[in-house]
Amino acid sequence: MTPSSGASSEPWFEELAVVRGRVDARLESVDRVLAVMSGKGGVGKTAVATNLALALAGRGLRVGLLDADLNSPTVAKVLGLRGRPVRLQGDELLPQAGPADLRVQSMDFFLQGSQPLAWDGAEGEGAHLRSALEDAALADLLAQTRWDELDWLLLDLPPGADRLTAAGRLTSRMDAALAVTIPTEVSLLAVERSMRRAQEARIPLLGLIENMGSVVCPRCGHEHGLFREAGAEALAEDTGTPLLARIPFDARLAAAADAGRPFLGEGASEAADSPAAAAFAKLGERVASWRPGGDRP
Ligand SMILES: Nc1ncnc2c1ncn2[C@@H]1O[C@H](COP(=O)(O)OP(=O)(O)OP(=O)(O)O)[C@@H](O)[C@H]1O
Ligand SMILES: [Mg+2]
Repeated sequence: MTPSSGASSEPWFEELAVVRGRVDARLESVDRVLAVMSGKGGVGKTAVATNLALALAGRGLRVGLLDADLNSPTVAKVLGLRGRPVRLQGDELLPQAGPADLRVQSMDFFLQGSQPLAWDGAEGEGAHLRSALEDAALADLLAQTRWDELDWLLLDLPPGADRLTAAGRLTSRMDAALAVTIPTEVSLLAVERSMRRAQEARIPLLGLIENMGSVVCPRCGHEHGLFREAGAEALAEDTGTPLLARIPFDARLAAAADAGRPFLGEGASEAADSPAAAAFAKLGERVASWRPGGDRP
């Protein structure tokens, strides 16, 4: 987006085709683009995106991670990167180097402390432009960041059934998406809508991830069911999507995220015996060799 220079105070937006061209050109050096999405908030999208990124990087792959949650970015917190300043080189943004050499970009780096983003302006005068401004900002983070050669670029999307398709309009390179749910009817309903929306938009769904369906007892290490209501198998079957992983609740995962410590890989030895860590490693193994147009893992 470029500010207008004329009399009008309305910002000037580029044609969508021009934006797509810029984003697509940037993503030419990226082999595969994968969005982590869910129609439901708080189900573990960021946990899946960050830990899958770490699992793929642990397999020797070059991985970028874009925090596409502009309003409530948490990737920097989870990966211990908060407070890092924006890195600019010429008119390019440089990603931050995260654990396991992840290349990370987030709106968090542009904001001070817990400063919120205010799209609407002081008097609400920009409220009607909010969604266009958000799209433009996301397109800029994608296109201006010097990702260089990557095997995978993961996008951690904000909650909402429309977020994947909104991001998908900004590029022809939304190669695939992973959907995340917890096993409750309430979550499954919202997640099904977002999966159907992805299918309508012809964005390939690589798989469904069930998160927090069970809990690992910190004393005996035994896995107990957390929710009794539902399982994700029926949704996987109804939508023709493989159930790629079941990630148990593990208090150590939440503690690592809160402390900004990677849960997998180097510096995460205390989680080496964790079923959640094993599930993420397995997910990384299943996803790693997938290519657009290939069979789903
Ligand atoms: N398997 C898990 N075990 C333990 N804690 C988890 C697990 N998955 C997620 N969490 C924790 O639950 C909380 C919500 O997870 P997360 O932030 O990943 O959800 P989200 O779907 O990205 O939320 P939002 O919709 O706000 O983006 C976080 O504190 C996270 O650390
Ligand atoms: Mg999140």
